[in-house]
Amino acid sequence: MDKTSMILDVDTGIDDAYAVLFAALHPNINLLGITCVDGNTNVDQVVANTLKVLDAAGAPDIPVARGATRPLLGPSVYAEYVHGADGMGDLSIERSSRTVDSRAAIELLRDLIEGSHEPVTLVPVAPLTNIALFLRAFPESAKKIHRILLMGGSASAGNATPAAEFNIWHDPEAAAIVFHSGVPITMYGLDVFMRPGITQQEAAKLRSSQSRPAQFAGELIEAFIARLGIATVTLGDYGAVAAAIHPELFSTELFDVVVDTSPGPGRGATICDRRDAFLRDFEPISLENPATVSVVMDLDVEAVRQLWLKTIDKGWS
Ligand code: BDR
Ligand code: CA
Repeated sequence: MDKTSMILDVDTGIDDAYAVLFAALHPNINLLGITCVDGNTNVDQVVANTLKVLDAAGAPDIPVARGATRPLLGPSVYAEYVHGADGMGDLSIERSSRTVDSRAAIELLRDLIEGSHEPVTLVPVAPLTNIALFLRAFPESAKKIHRILLMGGSASAGNATPAAEFNIWHDPEAAAIVFHSGVPITMYGLDVFMRPGITQQEAAKLRSSQSRPAQFAGELIEAFIARLGIATVTLGDYGAVAAAIHPELFSTELFDVVVDTSPGPGRGATICDRRDAFLRDFEPISLENPATVSVVMDLDVEAVRQLWLKTIDKGWS
C-alpha cells in the first residue's frame, strides 16, 4: 500500500483526538502537518489539545499551526457541552512542550502543499473556515490539492440543529466556498459518523494496555462515557481519515449538494439531491448551482473499528 500524504485540519475535540492519534500512528500515512481552527472550542485551546495528542502518540515534530479564531460571518458557538470545558474531556492532561508553528494555518497549508512531491489529501474534521480562507488566499496552491475528504454535513438529519451538522453549521459560508472550489470532495457526514464505536469494556482494555497512545485513548473514551452516561462512544472524526486511506471499507454515492447559507432553520444543512433519475427529470425544480460531492453512505463498521484499535494498540487482539 502506498503512503498517503495528508494534512489534517482539526478543532480538537475528543473525536478529533482519535483522528489525530490514528493519522500520526498509521504506517501508510505521511502526516505533513495539522492546522487548527475555532470549532468545538476556541482555537488556542484547540492548538493546546492537538499538541497534547501528538505527545500521547509519541509523534515526531509535526508542524501544527493556529488558524481562524471565528467563522467567516457569524459568532463562534462552541460544543463544550459535548467535549468538556477544555474541549478534550477535562482530563487535566499536562501542557505539551512542543512549539506551535509560527506560520498562520493558511500559510502552513500553502507551504506543505507547494513543497510536497506527492499529491496531498486534505482531511478537515472541523468547521471549514481555514480551508475556505486558504482557497481564497492561495488559489494557485489550492489547485494542487489532490482531494478533500471532510467530516461534515449529512444527507439525512443534522445534530447541531434538526437540519445541520455541527462543522457545516458553525461556518456555512466557508463550507459553501469549499464545496464549490472544484477540488474533488468526499463528505464523511452524519449518515455514517456515529456508527463505528468503542464500548466501555474496550476502553478499559485500551487504558490498561502497555502502549501510551492506547492508554490515552482509553482514558479519553472512559471519561466521555462517564460524563455523558452512554454505553458506546463513536470514533467520529477518525472515520474520515480511515476513508482517505481505505476506500474499500466505505461506499459512496454521488449527489448534487447545496449548502444552505440562509438565516432560517435550514442554515448549515447540506441539501443532497437523493431523488432517483426519474423524479429528477420529471420534477421541474432542481437545486440551483449544486456542487457534485461524493457522499459516504455506508461502511464496514467492524473493519473500520478494528483498523483503529490495531493502529492505536499494536498488541490489540
Ligand atoms: C463534528 O462536530 C464536532 O463536535 C466533532 O468533532 C465532529 O467533527 C460532528 O458533528
Ligand atoms: Ca471535529
